[in-house]
Amino acid sequence: MKLVFATHNANKLKEIQQLLPASIELVSLDAIGYTEDIPETANTLKGNAKIKADFVTKNYNLPCFADDTGLLVKSLNGEPGVYSARYAGSQNDSQANMSKLLKNLENKQDRSAHFKTVIALNIKGETHIFEGKVSGVITISQKGKRGFGYDPIFKPNGYEETFAELPLTVKNRISHRGQAVQKLIAYLNNINVTE
Ligand code: IMP
Repeated sequence: MKLVFATHNANKLKEIQQLLPASIELVSLDAIGYTEDIPETANTLKGNAKIKADFVTKNYNLPCFADDTGLLVKSLNGEPGVYSARYAGSQNDSQANMSKLLKNLENKQDRSAHFKTVIALNIKGETHIFEGKVSGVITISQKGKRGFGYDPIFKPNGYEETFAELPLTVKNRISHRGQAVQKLIAYLNNINVTE
């Protein structure tokens, strides 16, 4: 069975394909001929994940899953949340996003935050939602060179290092995305996908 992952990121795709049963052929948006970004117009992570999965299922009549992730900071009422990629304005300027967040937290005592990933899967006429969450704190300054996005300023609870200092294998095991993907894979491994 062909299953679309609504992403253009070949690395994300490869990582998940390796964990799926051989009966599932995972394909990207590019592989089905869609090269643009699907607009994320909802104001929740679940809403955006559903928009992307539904777009593919509706237009290409294929089973599909999509993910959306945000960093939610408690003392900022859940900011940047669904706007994490464009917190400082332009899309995916990680340095500007981190600087803005550190500035907004300057006078706050409570620096607790969590990352949340939501995956929406459309398969066999049903939608299934899988979520992953990791709690931690926003550090005072950036530390570490690994990872992407807010990794240099997020220290998961129970660790002394930021996500950007931890080895990728550790981050993947405990992270929001890692947990949501593990739930998705457990589900796909359990259903009969040969039909
Ligand atoms: P996306 O939904 O996976 O594209 O994530 C949206 C935004 O959240 C990204 O552009 C990053 O700024 C941030 N983000 C998502 N996952 C992570 C992560 O694992 N570490 C740090 N930042 C992340």
